[in-house]
Amino acid sequence: MKVLITGGAGFIGSAVVPAIMNDGYDVFVLDNLSFGNREFISVKDDHFFLADIRDELMVKKIIRKLQPELIIHLAAIHFIPYCNQHPYEAADINIRGTMNILNVAREIRTLKRLFFASTAAVYPIEDKALKETHRLHPMDIYGLTKLTGEHLCHEFYLETGVDTIICRFFNAFGPNETNPHLIPEIESQLRKGLRTIKLGNLTPKRDFIHTYDMASAVRKLITMEKMGYDIYNLGRGIEYSVVEIVEAFERQIKEKVNIEVDPGKIRKVEREHLLADVSKLKNIGWEPEWGIDDGVKNLIENW
Ligand SMILES: NC(=O)c1ccc[n+]([C@@H]2O[C@H](COP(=O)([O-])OP(=O)(O)OC[C@H]3O[C@@H](n4cnc5c(N)ncnc54)[C@H](O)[C@@H]3O)[C@@H](O)[C@H]2O)c1
Repeated sequence: MKVLITGGAGFIGSAVVPAIMNDGYDVFVLDNLSFGNREFISVKDDHFFLADIRDELMVKKIIRKLQPELIIHLAAIHFIPYCNQHPYEAADINIRGTMNILNVAREIRTLKRLFFASTAAVYPIEDKALKETHRLHPMDIYGLTKLTGEHLCHEFYLETGVDTIICRFFNAFGPNETNPHLIPEIESQLRKGLRTIKLGNLTPKRDFIHTYDMASAVRKLITMEKMGYDIYNLGRGIEYSVVEIVEAFERQIKEKVNIEVDPGKIRKVEREHLLADVSKLKNIGWEPEWGIDDGVKNLIENW
């Protein structure tokens, strides 16, 4: 089966691409390498399109020629502070870019399924685990662009009847991180030899899911029987505070790590909790395998 993965050279793509290739799919990647890295993935040059999803004509040309049976749309910008500072760029890539993909996907007769990477950022502030049916209310431009993407995908499904999966990713961690999120920030300071590290807000808790588990969930979802239009949360269902993540590093390096709050890193608007209810995904037979300790150990082993 021919699969096109947009944003496949990015952080999550670098786990999804090899997993899908291993399953025997013929994998093509479209990425402008703005955040991704060509070396993260081992697709051949004739399976890699260096292109921008905002370039409507190029996107049309590539997808028309390829005639994929499955599209996994990961390309986006998503580092929330960056999106807040560049709202037009975030909307342009995440909304107009998605429209360009869907616009040509509508004409592709071979297409059997579309997978859209959405986010937990579509949910409002909530202290409890979030189910897919929870009320939606993004707090920032990033969440808003992804919620718009979900609506566009729904319209695409209503028009074409092509199976459409919306997957709301929670906080990814693992190798090949491309954005300065919490875990790579801790990693980079520890790798410099620091044992007093500077971080921003310490209390927020997040549901960290390893990219290898994300890849196994994507594999599961793309092979399900005909599903119509459906939405799945993808997290681990456990939340950790910043301090607990630092403690996971301490356990692996077997050294004490002190934390200093750096006022420059404090996010003014921050959720205290962001936890997935993943029972829907587990009900179709998916189980995460990577705990926080295994994941951190794996990161350190690759330093
Ligand atoms: N990392 C997370 O914790 C997280 C959480 C929720 C949702 N997501 C979503 O998952 C998807 C993948 O995220 P990631 O963490 O791998 O990020 P990433 O930045 O590593 O990957 C995105 C990829 O898209 C590419 N890209 C960006 N703009 C593009 C454009 N205009 N044209 C073509 N390619 C472009 C980048 O070069 C990169 O390779 C994104 O849609 C993101 O919104 C990620």
